[in-house]
Amino acid sequence: MPESHAKSLYPATSAGHPSKIAIIGAGAVGTAVAYACAMRGDARSIVLQDINKAKVEAEALDIAHGIQFTPTGSVEGSDDVEIVSGADLVIVTAGAKQKPGQSRLELAESTVALMRNIVPSLQRVAPDARFMFITNPVDVVTYVALKLTGLPRNQVFGSGTVLDTSRLRYLVSLQTGVATQNIHAYVAGEHGDSEVALWSSAEIGNVPVRHWGPTLSGRLFDAELRSEIAQEVIQSAYKIIEGKGATNYAIGLAASNIAGAVLRDESRVLTISTLLEDWEGISDVCMAAPTIVGRPGAGRVLNPPLTLAERDGLTASAQRLRQVARDLGF
Ligand code: 2OP
Repeated sequence: MPESHAKSLYPATSAGHPSKIAIIGAGAVGTAVAYACAMRGDARSIVLQDINKAKVEAEALDIAHGIQFTPTGSVEGSDDVEIVSGADLVIVTAGAKQKPGQSRLELAESTVALMRNIVPSLQRVAPDARFMFITNPVDVVTYVALKLTGLPRNQVFGSGTVLDTSRLRYLVSLQTGVATQNIHAYVAGEHGDSEVALWSSAEIGNVPVRHWGPTLSGRLFDAELRSEIAQEVIQSAYKIIEGKGATNYAIGLAASNIAGAVLRDESRVLTISTLLEDWEGISDVCMAAPTIVGRPGAGRVLNPPLTLAERDGLTASAQRLRQVARDLGF
């Protein structure tokens, strides 16, 4: 067996070639995504691309020196976009950082200008790839990328509220002492201030949250506690940015989770951001909803039971995102 095929745990692609993930941007998020994907063996080959040649080569080399301890075959970095060629999944993290107190939507204008620049070249070198956007405001960026590429909705999606969903499950886990993996609760809508925690369909194990007795601190899952938790999820990134300037580790793991779902064709239900068409009365906007994720990329969007308040919240979130896209000419 040739040396390059020595590692066998990584997923192969349907096209038969060894799987490849390309990550655009070698900043705090891009490198955390690369590290998480390498640790979990989401693809045989991981490449990082960034305009800063010295930085991207150094970051890739630092991870590559540890591949002995991972199921991954190779990690390389370059400032040349051609390194993305042949990727099955392109993960875009390039963009400006949120400053402390700044909302994700405030980044829209500069980020969209950047996307006009980089998205066409990525599509040129990897026309058949799935494209996952992480750059904020992720829902607007995903919508813009769909319009710029003209690709079908399954092929272009955003990381959406996969991280917010994980934050929600973490906080419910702290309240209940039940493992996060057994908290079945989702956050939908904008990855940002107008997102909606779907409490009415949330379950702990198979017990609906509203039927859960007292929490570990002796409180009930009443409207007050639910609202406190949902607010804490919304404030999470602000709090972390205040303390360390950026969030990166959890989004790295979340992105790796989505990448694994695509490359291993897992059909997982994840709250990625996709183009919604008549979903709960919402159309022509990209935002997060529980969606089946597998080899084709974004699949069917689920329709969980919603209360009127949840539905109104999602409609408002969609209107807000649509308006930002329209203001930018999309
Ligand atoms: C996060 O939620 C800032 O969008 C980033 O961590």
